[in-house]
Amino acid sequence: SIVVLDFGSQFSMLIARRVRELNTYCELLPYDVPRERLAGMDVRGIILSGGPNSVYEEGAPLAPDWVWESGLPVLGICYGMQVMAHQLGGQVAPGAEREYGPAVVHRDHAAPLLDGLPADFEVWMSHGDRIEVLPPGFAGYASTANSPFAVMADPSRGYYGLQFHPEVVHTPRGKDILRNFVHGVCGAQGTWTPGNFIEETVEAIRAQVGSGRVICGLSGGVDSAVAAVLVHRAVGDHLVCIFVDNGLLRAGEAEEVVTTFRKNLAINLVHVDAAEEFLAQLAEVTNPETKRVRIGNTFVRVFEREARKVEGARFLCQGTLYPDVIESGSHGKGASTIKTHHNVGGLPADMKFELVEPLRYLFKDEVRRIGEALGLPDEMVWRHPFPGPGLAIRCIGEVTREKLEILRRADRIVMDEIREAGLYRDLWQAFAVLTDTKTVGVMGDFRTYGYAVAVRAVVADDAMTADWARLPHELLSRISNRIVNEVHGVNRVVYDITPKPPGTIEWE
Ligand code: XMP
Repeated sequence: SIVVLDFGSQFSMLIARRVRELNTYCELLPYDVPRERLAGMDVRGIILSGGPNSVYEEGAPLAPDWVWESGLPVLGICYGMQVMAHQLGGQVAPGAEREYGPAVVHRDHAAPLLDGLPADFEVWMSHGDRIEVLPPGFAGYASTANSPFAVMADPSRGYYGLQFHPEVVHTPRGKDILRNFVHGVCGAQGTWTPGNFIEETVEAIRAQVGSGRVICGLSGGVDSAVAAVLVHRAVGDHLVCIFVDNGLLRAGEAEEVVTTFRKNLAINLVHVDAAEEFLAQLAEVTNPETKRVRIGNTFVRVFEREARKVEGARFLCQGTLYPDVIESGSHGKGASTIKTHHNVGGLPADMKFELVEPLRYLFKDEVRRIGEALGLPDEMVWRHPFPGPGLAIRCIGEVTREKLEILRRADRIVMDEIREAGLYRDLWQAFAVLTDTKTVGVMGDFRTYGYAVAVRAVVADDAMTADWARLPHELLSRISNRIVNEVHGVNRVVYDITPKPPGTIEWE
């Protein structure tokens, strides 16, 4: 595997993803991680990430000595390169100008790591400091207009430094450079595949759980589904899945979860129909945050009640992903995080579970690959994200059974038409919102007075920012006609053209 030592760059996590895309296992660890943390990891190389500091400042973060004593190949990126230069006897100083944005690198004909690249190629720069004097043993192999040493290396020791960022898409050949380091220099094999992951993970779960019993909360989303199937492969009937049906799911969704898990996968599934309980809690509530709190609390209460019925359960399986682990800052210590939505972390103190988190080292796209390899249905593997509070936050104002039913019908039409148009996978999320506004319309010879439905469809790489999807007008027209004609109580459809920010994806 490859270890990335994190000096705080916003791109650190991307480096780990890129290495994994080369089918080589990679972990992102704090820069000052003790060597013992790497025991048993079969580390073949180290990457020092970028970061916001300047190496010549007092107290600037540096690589621990064990990095230089290990004999392993090291790649320094941006600040990581400056750390390397500084610690190995070179000189780093503030550059005359900050170099930020695109640049063209010109390489010497035999530059290590740049095998297979053209003489000039585009890169992304983001740094203020630059290397003035190379450390002993190093040579410069490529430059830009502003950086005489865009690439430095001492190939005899396996030390390489890049002033630019190979991990971002703005460095189009960056992946080739990383491949040259990971596969070429480090000789790390591309054995990190879904098949191997499944095999190793199933073994690890068996070792952890032994003959104990495991509980797993299912939401219908891909993370909890993949986690549950992995645990099921490991312990079979010792897994009990609890699916809390809050009555706030989309049309057909609860049935789909039950069929997939019980019939197709033969997994022990407790289907709790708690719609009444949730709706009672939501009566007369219009404030979005109050809705969230009520739903969250009710979920914990229902889940607890069902979990207590599972005798001898000592383990709780959660679909925690790697970004959650890293964001919570627990990746150095091996501590556990609990996802805030579907907040099982709110279980009472006397219900102590040991967590089983088979996905805690995976990114979302990797979870999907594993889901496919496990044979989960496409609809589940590629399902759009769906909020824990479900349709309650897409039903503006008070949530009632009647309004939920209207929303479900409209939403189903939106989804069917988008699937039919082959656009489902191009979108981050798409759905209908039932506004709290009634408007006047005309149908045949009659005046109507009904709800306005909003259609929301967004594209995004993650949910931090999003843009409204430029859906074809023909598709929007079909969606609008069908909703007004087929959904009783709705006489108007609008399309939401607000990006995030300033809008959010959901309306509440
Ligand atoms: P917003 O609306 O904030 O949503 O742009 C960003 C992403 O988060 C989802 N979302 C939620 N997920 N519980 C969840 O589990 C929530 O309360 C919640 N609110 C929003 C939303 O669907 C989008 O993917």
